[in-house]
Amino acid sequence: MNNFKRYTVTTALPYANGPLHIGHLAGVYIPADIYVRYLRSIGTDVVFIGGSDEHGVPITIKARKEGVTPQDIVDRYHNIIKKSFAEFGISFDVYSRTSNEIHKETASEFFLKLYNDGKLIEDTEEQYYDEEAKQFLADRYITGTCPICGNPKAYGDQCESCGTSLNARDLIEPKSTISGSAPILRETKHWYLPLDRYEDWLKEWILNEHKEWKVNVYGQCKSWLDAGLHPRAVTRDLDWGVKVPLKDANGKVLYVWFDAPIGYISATKELTNDWEKYWKDKDTRLIHFIGKDNIVFHCIIFPTMLKAEGSYILPDNVPAFEFLNLEGDKISTSRNWAVWLHEYLVDFPDKQDVLRYVLTANAPETKDNDFTWKDFQTKNNSELVAIFGNFINRTLVLTQKYFDGFVPPRNKFEEIDISTLEELKCIPTRIENSLDNFKFRESLSEMMSLARLGNKYLTETEPWKTFKDNPERVQTVLNIALQICANLAVVSAPFLPFTSEKIFRMLNLPSMKWFKAGNTDLLEPEHKLGEPVLLFEKIEDKDIEYQINRLEQIKTANDKESEEIKVSPQKETICFDDFVKIDIRTGKILEAEKVPKANKLLKLKIDTGIDIRTVVSGIAEFYNPEEIIGQNVSILVNLAPRNLRGIESEGMILMAENSEGKLCFVSPIEDFNPGSEIK
Ligand code: MF3
Ligand code: ZN
Repeated sequence: MNNFKRYTVTTALPYANGPLHIGHLAGVYIPADIYVRYLRSIGTDVVFIGGSDEHGVPITIKARKEGVTPQDIVDRYHNIIKKSFAEFGISFDVYSRTSNEIHKETASEFFLKLYNDGKLIEDTEEQYYDEEAKQFLADRYITGTCPICGNPKAYGDQCESCGTSLNARDLIEPKSTISGSAPILRETKHWYLPLDRYEDWLKEWILNEHKEWKVNVYGQCKSWLDAGLHPRAVTRDLDWGVKVPLKDANGKVLYVWFDAPIGYISATKELTNDWEKYWKDKDTRLIHFIGKDNIVFHCIIFPTMLKAEGSYILPDNVPAFEFLNLEGDKISTSRNWAVWLHEYLVDFPDKQDVLRYVLTANAPETKDNDFTWKDFQTKNNSELVAIFGNFINRTLVLTQKYFDGFVPPRNKFEEIDISTLEELKCIPTRIENSLDNFKFRESLSEMMSLARLGNKYLTETEPWKTFKDNPERVQTVLNIALQICANLAVVSAPFLPFTSEKIFRMLNLPSMKWFKAGNTDLLEPEHKLGEPVLLFEKIEDKDIEYQINRLEQIKTANDKESEEIKVSPQKETICFDDFVKIDIRTGKILEAEKVPKANKLLKLKIDTGIDIRTVVSGIAEFYNPEEIIGQNVSILVNLAPRNLRGIESEGMILMAENSEGKLCFVSPIEDFNPGSEIK
């Protein structure tokens, strides 16, 4: 362990604009909860901080879509999210929210302190403005093409395709997401955090003093720092958020990524009047649990804010997780590709620990990882049921049967007893080491190794065979097996809190702290045990098939939707006189050849009935010249001639896209003579 006196453990505040799914739990909240439960259990003074992130553009966009206020949206989801966390045993000391008063005060004060100390830059610059909606287009209110990867749906703050964090002005062909119109540039004043001034300090602090951070975290920080930092706006022209506490800042709010991390501090204030020791005392260890998309905010921007403010401690570690996929695909709220926590509990009531177990075993610790229902079933059936549950159940049932539920005494030891007890004493330390290094998968498998040890012990000593001839031997065996059960109750508590409690109840013991782990005398002879209950039950194929079917249906629906042809909107109305000006005829292709150095163009000779003329057409990607000779076509004949690549094109062939995106001839079905008018 280290020299810190106390811990402040924070978890990324989820946006209150949708319910939670397994990805949230796996990548932030379960590991954090395991860690904190363990810390508490070894007697550490720790505060475990959570809350909803209730500002930001996605929330206002959702509200606008549903015709309700942003406050309605966050009220709804804050409560749903809070309930899910409680149901899965995420043991926050406080679950706060950033729309409450204490947060507004805390965030405003923080901003003012930076402002008054001259730590912010004031600057007026041109930003995109939607003239129809009469609004500046912050962050997700603007989309366009990503200059890095070409994704046409990048946002003003980030491209979700390549992960690059962007400035709205970087976008190619920007468009307002409110009105769809092309925005104009308009001047506006904002306040900036001059990250560039902190670059040297950040390099020293992260790259030299925190080499122990996880490789993915350290690597991301390094590439940001190597690229060079720039001032970052911490205010926005929006009406949802914490108002900028300055006179000349009408209609401006703090940027959501400025106010949200301050939410950790506000939440601690809400929890205790004694909050300052958790944020300002050098003996406190601050740890942020986050997902990988939050690294720069927690490792570079927020620490710079804290440093600039001057009175706060800095994070000592930022264990960031990668992402969890679902059945091979990225989890996506908009495509409903997720396992939602509230739905899971309807289908698998009281199986919170099973999900906690599977998500920890598969935690996306060092790389993205996959959740599959088959694996969920296997981990439940062949690990939780067959190893963990089976061991505890066998031990208790045998004790009931042979000794009426009383703990038997220990008699003479055999070799296997001694080695088993030795192994039992070592396991807790291994779990501790893994947890201290944020290696959650490893720590879980150490915990399971204790259950495996117990199972192996019973299998090798075979008390059910020995009892008839040697009941004294069985006394020793079951005593030792019961000590293993009690130890399992202790060391499983951070991982499987509901199960751990059940074991303690079955053993008729009060819950015990971690320092009891490794102790081989947790149960005294003559102690009366409680009633055995089944800890885990087999999950049947049909339950898994149901889940897989559900996902398949979602996939089919999604595929259909993306197949549906996006029909472009109707053009402006024209009058009949306009229409009769258009002269379209049936025609026939007589010759076709490629246009040199133009891979899309074919040069065609068309019999229009009126004459034989040349038309250049952009269909070379779809047709070889030889296959279209003799093709009937519809041709606009009175289009003013145009020069294309040095060839005079006299007309236009009518084409339409088929369902696969191929351009096809709109040709008369019957064999007309060239020159017939299409009207
Ligand atoms: N709401 C953010 C997200 O879901 C996380 C905010 S973390 C905090 O990505 F530090 F800002 F609170
Ligand atoms: Zn991109």
